[in-house]
Amino acid sequence: MSELTEHMWDTLREQATEAMRRAYCPYSHYPVGAAALVDDGRIITGCNVENAAYGVTLCAECGLVSDLINGGGGRLVAFVCVNQQAQPIVPCGRCRQLLYEHGGGDLRVLLPSGIQPMAAVLPDAFGVEDLDEIKEISQ
Ligand code: THU
Repeated sequence: MSELTEHMWDTLREQATEAMRRAYCPYSHYPVGAAALVDDGRIITGCNVENAAYGVTLCAECGLVSDLINGGGGRLVAFVCVNQQAQPIVPCGRCRQLLYEHGGGDLRVLLPSGIQPMAAVLPDAFGVEDLDEIKEISQ
């Protein structure tokens, strides 16, 4: 995997912005687009999809993770989500957990404050290792 160049971050922001334009958000009028680099070099995207039952709303990250798995899986290497102004935004708490599952602590996340590792974006995260720990204790 090549290093994360400024050009790669620009590409991810562009792809996230394109996805944002496809968002379905008639209730909040807050379109979000997400894009990520996968460890096999693929770029995947997602946009938010709202629902008349507001709580059923799918964040852009949900679509992105679906794109990841449906496209063959892999590990997330770099991620960004953007608002209508094509500016990076912070992923919501639930989506941090979604991203952690597929990128772990090393996933690079572009935030309004700059690039951060997922380990800083979701410190002390619950993950698959915690499930394994319980299995070991109960064996
Ligand atoms: N939203 C996302 O798609 N991702 C986030 O991480 C933050 C929030 C969406 C959900 C909803 O459709 C809209 O933004 C306003 O909350």
